[in-house]
Amino acid sequence: MKIAITGATGFVAKNLRKFLSKQNIPVVAIGRKNFPTYKNEIKIVTKNYSEDLSSKLINCSCMIHLVGVGKQTFDNNFYEINYLLTKKILQISKKSKIKKIIFNSGLGASKNSTTDYFISKYLAEKEIIKSGLDYTIFRPSYIIGTSDHLSQNLKKQIHRGTIIIPGSGNFPLQPISINDVIKILFHAAASKKYSNKILDLVGTEIISYEKFVKLFTASKKPIIKKTNIEIAYRDAIRNPTSQYGVDDLHILVGNFIGSSKKLKQISNLEFENFRNILKSSSLS
Ligand SMILES: NC(=O)c1ccc[n+]([C@@H]2O[C@H](COP(=O)([O-])OP(=O)(O)OC[C@H]3O[C@@H](n4cnc5c(N)ncnc54)[C@H](OP(=O)(O)O)[C@@H]3O)[C@@H](O)[C@H]2O)c1
Repeated sequence: MKIAITGATGFVAKNLRKFLSKQNIPVVAIGRKNFPTYKNEIKIVTKNYSEDLSSKLINCSCMIHLVGVGKQTFDNNFYEINYLLTKKILQISKKSKIKKIIFNSGLGASKNSTTDYFISKYLAEKEIIKSGLDYTIFRPSYIIGTSDHLSQNLKKQIHRGTIIIPGSGNFPLQPISINDVIKILFHAAASKKYSNKILDLVGTEIISYEKFVKLFTASKKPIIKKTNIEIAYRDAIRNPTSQYGVDDLHILVGNFIGSSKKLKQISNLEFENFRNILKSSSLS
């Protein structure tokens, strides 16, 4: 097995690459800026995935496509990165004779999606399904581990002394441990059981955002302040450095819930409780 990974410098990819290095699985790691590699890796640095990469991807059996944006800006928007770049990765995979693609979409992506983020992820899903490649599409909830995005955000707020909870804080989260996610990505690359499937990548427990924040901050005891949701949205729209971006709020308020049942059956994994991750990663 030889695995190609895009977005090599991102949170999920970094954890996955570390895991694969311990197994000594050959990896082609692709990123847009220079990065350190493990012994098992070949590195590709490409600014916009436009050059012909096929000679470097020779004999890869699977492409794990982990480039994605959860917050858009003028020059890094959802349509171009989440959708058009995925289309490009499909072309690159086909040219390189890679037979399988694994993609992280988002929990909430569907044909009924109304927000730019989920629409871009859903468009990418459709493109993958019609590509003819063997595929596994995961729809993750919040992936939790050292230096995940939500923890980083909360840590920043703790540092400032106050954590803001937008609105009621009564929004459901289904956190899943990064350790489970990387095992599942690896299984999906190796096993036919995941072929041509769309699977929710969610933990077994549903917890409200407010409760999650309280667990996360248990030992730090910062001030926790609820703000009116209208104020949170106004800040998100006008202030690029606000605690929550517009899409963070959409995802929180959207109440997206999945089921871990199918994935548990296929993976045979005993999922880690996210509370242990909070403890073991010294997050709480
Ligand atoms: N983490 C979660 O909780 C979560 C939840 C749902 C879905 N997902 C999806 O899972 C995938 C991996 O997530 P992650 O948490 O690892 O994301 P991440 O840490 O933000 O990493 C994203 C990767 O995409 C690359 N990237 C961003 N814009 C790019 C561009 N214009 N051209 C080329 N590369 C670009 C980044 O490169 P740089 O390092 O150079 O910036 C980085 O390597 C993403 O598709 C994400 O949407 C994640």
